[in-house]
Amino acid sequence: MKGIILAGGSGTRLYPTTLAVSKQLMPVYDKPTIYYPLSVLMLSGITDILIISTPADLPQFRRLLGDGSELGLTFSYAGQERPNGLAEAFLIGADHIGGDSVALVLGDNLFHGPGLSPLLQKNARDVDGCVLFGYQVSDPERYGVGEVDDRGCLVSIEEKPTAPRSNRAITGLYFYSNDVVDIAKNIRPSERGELEITDVNLTYLAEGRARLVELRRGFTWLDTGTPEALLTASQFVGILESRQRVRIACLEEIALRMGYIDAEACHRLGERLGKSDYGRYVMEVAETWRPPSAVAAPSR
Ligand code: DAU
Repeated sequence: MKGIILAGGSGTRLYPTTLAVSKQLMPVYDKPTIYYPLSVLMLSGITDILIISTPADLPQFRRLLGDGSELGLTFSYAGQERPNGLAEAFLIGADHIGGDSVALVLGDNLFHGPGLSPLLQKNARDVDGCVLFGYQVSDPERYGVGEVDDRGCLVSIEEKPTAPRSNRAITGLYFYSNDVVDIAKNIRPSERGELEITDVNLTYLAEGRARLVELRRGFTWLDTGTPEALLTASQFVGILESRQRVRIACLEEIALRMGYIDAEACHRLGERLGKSDYGRYVMEVAETWRPPSAVAAPSR
């Protein structure tokens, strides 16, 4: 499975902060926002990742993340001239996807919870159609909303409905089989002139090939689209990290745990981050690392 992070858009709801800096490069507590969705793809077992952003912001993403080799990953980059909609990611990323299935994650989404990695890896395997991740929220009208029947099967999806049929938001993480490229090519722009991800998902729903995985109580899903949301996300991460002295979305640690790099390489990455707490944590993780005797091979 290939990965795509969509990290474009104009971030107007965060103006003036995002006049000169991409929203997905802003810090959520101790690391750039894009680390969080990137960690989700890594935890899904995905190693080949395309990062899409505005042509103006791409150089900073490259500077931050490089070609991925230090983390045992492969990163490539592509520009999106205008925010023409989330589904444009599949047109821009068609060559990257090739003949594979694909996971799309929005560059400002943060996921955290127990057993997230096995849950993602299980659902990334043999995708036929689309796999969506639902999350109960108090303000569903702000999101794509999914409705399920008594058996838990998805029966409707609506984009930002004024009268939501459920409180189940569709989060910004999507797994698709290879035909998503053809489906994206055939949808028309919505009234607001965008290629909507919801229209892609509705195509699968009509074919009976859309599945909803519930992120239940105990999971956290946040985005960072407004100053309040950014602050909430930072507070959430700050509290968890300082209370437990574990780090969320520490890319070097995940690369080590997933078997993408060894402890020596992990330590070197920590050293490079110098005196920061983050850097010290990476070194500590490398120093105390004991590889499990039998590590399950991640799905690619
Ligand atoms: O966060 C989950 C929600 O994301 C879903 O529930 C909705 O169904 C989905 O449409 C989307 O809604 P948003 O209102 O959050 O979409 P927004 O236009 O804000 O774009 C989400 C992110 O993607 C944002 O960080 C900017 C980036 N983006 C957006 C567009 C339209 C791009 O990089 N390119 C684009 O063309």
